[in-house]
Amino acid sequence: MLDLKTTEKNFLIPHIKEGGVAVDFTMGNGHDTLWLSKAVGESGKVYAFDVQQAALDSTKALLESENAPQNYTLILDSHHNSEKYVKEPICVGMFNLGWLPGSDKTVRTHFETTLPAIEAAIRLLDDDGALLIAVYPGHSEGAEEGIMIGDILARLERKSYCAARFNLMNSPTSPYFYLIEKK
Ligand SMILES: C[S@@+](CC[C@H](N)C(=O)[O-])C[C@H]1O[C@@H](n2cnc3c(N)ncnc32)[C@H](O)[C@@H]1O
Repeated sequence: MLDLKTTEKNFLIPHIKEGGVAVDFTMGNGHDTLWLSKAVGESGKVYAFDVQQAALDSTKALLESENAPQNYTLILDSHHNSEKYVKEPICVGMFNLGWLPGSDKTVRTHFETTLPAIEAAIRLLDDDGALLIAVYPGHSEGAEEGIMIGDILARLERKSYCAARFNLMNSPTSPYFYLIEKK
């Protein structure tokens, strides 16, 4: 059966460049940071953001235990401030919205910062770059956040961007994802 959470990264692979710059906009426990770190390699760079020190701690532990390349910078700040830290164009970026699994659910992404963070990420995209945004509509705030993101993406200029949504037709509360590709 199709599992979107395992399929989604395949859509980023064609955009990843060895030595490129990647951003994990929602670090969490670091699984996506680890994947990006290995994907861009020793000569690449990964910036990862989270607002919780616990996320930085668990990500650092994961990266060290998995012998990730020393190409990452873990940043304790909200993703809507990414342009303060990331000065290079990025080949790929990932958002995995919601809360840190196994922790306080009130510390979660909110559209007030998610929407400007996505707009910043789009500005950071290099030519042929791509962003992946995983949305969790199983709770009302997540569903609303996803709809608002869709409104922004639907307005992206078609000549420069391709914006797509992937979801299970017969399971409206299952996670889905958006893919934005810059031409
Ligand atoms: C679903 S988890 C991410 C999972 C992660 N990608 C992984 O691989 O383990 C969502 C994360 O977003 C973080 N978050 C919430 N608001 C944020 C913000 N404004 N800026 C950056 N991260 C934020 C939460 O603290 C949480 O750790």
